[in-house]
Amino acid sequence: MKLYFNEKTKAEKDMMRIAELCAKEEKLDPERISISVSFVSKDEIKQLNRDFRNNDKVTDVLSFPQFEKKELKKLNMPEIEIGDVVICMDKVKEQAAEFGHSEERESMYLFTHSVFHLLGYDHMNEADKKVMRAKEEKIMALYSLPKLAKEASKNAYSPYSKYKVGAALLTKCGKIYTGCNIENASYGATICAERTAMVKAISEGCKSFVALAVTDWPCGICRQFMYEFSPDMIVMCKDKEYTLRELLPEGFRLEDK
Ligand code: THU
Repeated sequence: MKLYFNEKTKAEKDMMRIAELCAKEEKLDPERISISVSFVSKDEIKQLNRDFRNNDKVTDVLSFPQFEKKELKKLNMPEIEIGDVVICMDKVKEQAAEFGHSEERESMYLFTHSVFHLLGYDHMNEADKKVMRAKEEKIMALYSLPKLAKEASKNAYSPYSKYKVGAALLTKCGKIYTGCNIENASYGATICAERTAMVKAISEGCKSFVALAVTDWPCGICRQFMYEFSPDMIVMCKDKEYTLRELLPEGFRLEDK
């Protein structure tokens, strides 16, 4: 993934992650995709909105796709410039205050929305809007997992190892469950962060998993525990993403017999 910015930004790493998650969601190789990202003033975005969309108003984000959805999969150039994202940070600030969430959350949501436009999605009718929103929600959830895992590690009960681990799990039902490691004086009774999150989800009826983020490498027992329920899930650890099958090749499942 390559992002070309018009100015230096602290958001580079987060936007990169979002763009990669979006590309993977569309089964496109992130390595081959590039996007141009510009931060502009209210006046500038108003002008662009007027000139290119015939709408003489300030807006939060504009997207200029280069291709249609069906074209994207067929392209075989080594680098595909899928289009331009234009964001107005003054508008981001206003909207974040209005919605009562962080500027980071607002800008990442708008960026996700815009990248899906570049990937051929639209919200002209209700059906298309529903599909696009579901995609956006999934990416925002995936994006939030590592941060939630870190947050969850603060609740670790680990007086013996003094080692704190956190996990965050996204289920197919769309819910996120977090967990931490919980140790015990009878050491074998210790439960890892990943399994804490998974047993919380399963006990509430969600036993299909999309992705789990953990603040460390998952141990063998946790890998096997995940494999029972969702062998194709994503595991995020150490700033990287793996499929569970990569982390546990030839995992054991009675169902496979
Ligand atoms: N731990 C986890 O929470 N997850 C893992 O996958 C590896 C280990 C915890 C268990 C124990 O409380 C501490 O790390 C030290 O082993």
